[in-house]
Amino acid sequence: MLRDPDGNPVDGGKWFTHHGTDVETNWAATDLLSYRTPTERFFVRNHTTAPEIDVASWRLEVWGDGVDGGPMAYSLDELKALGETTYDRALECTGNGRRLYDEQQGEFRPGTQWGLGAIGLASWTGVPLRTVLEDAGLRDDAVQVMPVGLDPSYVCEGTDYGHVRRPLPIEKALDDVLVAWEMNGAPLEPDHGFPVRLVVPGWVGIASIKWLGSLEVATTRSESPWSTKWYRMHGPGYDDPDGTGDPQAAVLDRMPVKSLMDLPPGSEVVAGRLTVLRGRAWAGDATIAAVEVSTDDGQTWEEATLTGPNERSCWVEWEHPWTPAAAGDQVIRTRATDSSGRTQPDRVPTNDDGYLFWAVVQHPVTVTSSSSVPVA
Ligand code: MTE
Repeated sequence: MLRDPDGNPVDGGKWFTHHGTDVETNWAATDLLSYRTPTERFFVRNHTTAPEIDVASWRLEVWGDGVDGGPMAYSLDELKALGETTYDRALECTGNGRRLYDEQQGEFRPGTQWGLGAIGLASWTGVPLRTVLEDAGLRDDAVQVMPVGLDPSYVCEGTDYGHVRRPLPIEKALDDVLVAWEMNGAPLEPDHGFPVRLVVPGWVGIASIKWLGSLEVATTRSESPWSTKWYRMHGPGYDDPDGTGDPQAAVLDRMPVKSLMDLPPGSEVVAGRLTVLRGRAWAGDATIAAVEVSTDDGQTWEEATLTGPNERSCWVEWEHPWTPAAAGDQVIRTRATDSSGRTQPDRVPTNDDGYLFWAVVQHPVTVTSSSSVPVA
């Protein structure tokens, strides 16, 4: 996100919807139709504010009983010397779509009232977390990494919860997580974690800790408020979600399957004239198997054409030709199925914090009669 010298956003209200310290990418901005989200239009989710970090004195500390190499402190140049990987990956906030619990299901949930714009896709450059951990002497019995951000402590309703941090199981840490210093080919912007952040593909956005200061590698599991109080399912049915007596199952990791249309809600299309509907679909750490579109209140569905790349933990773009027959208000629905067989349902069970809304989204458009369109 671009800011003026006083730290105020300079988008003029066009690219973003503002929610306190957070900004949501505005799908109604007409020129968003690129595969990657430009950095200056990428959503921002800050618990407090972006800290000012002097990269010359900044170090990433790696410590804990899960590494044999003793506490390590890497400068940015030392991290870069470990190797460099670039990949495209989506990043999505756990609460993306929260507003739709209210709008579609009549179940208001407190928290940032995101529409569907708390997701973006960027190319990220950095070193695999696995490489850093191995360089620091990772032990075979390590079970968890606790990344800690350098942003100010998070204080909520009089309680100081400390720095933003969330445990990451070692299996994911060694899989596809990146310690990233570039986004879309440029150093990270302050709002996106300068100088270094984690990118944890396909998982809840909170896992991708920004302004990374330290990694505690441990041989025993521990929690943080970001895995117990927040970013975990709370509410009826969730204290023991799989009936095994293990409340750990309510901790959130992978994101569900979702889809959206790029067309701004409430757009006008013309009866009898071809309109190509376009959008995107994504599915946590899976790929997309199919996207279907309904233009008749969900009675019939037609399969859309997937265009462009369809990679794990990215989105895929889709398009579908539609010639509306008659003028009037219409609701278009899109429904995605992912490579693991999950299909978006019409309605999803809610939870206290409004996380993971993944139901089919109802998208209103107005069909005008061709005679009401002025002749040029
Ligand atoms: N890391 C720190 N240190 N502080 C934060 O507030 N927000 C998290 C995550 N990492 C956060 C953080 C959340 S909830 C999300 S969705 C993503 O960062 C958002 O990343 P972005 O602002 O670059 O889009």
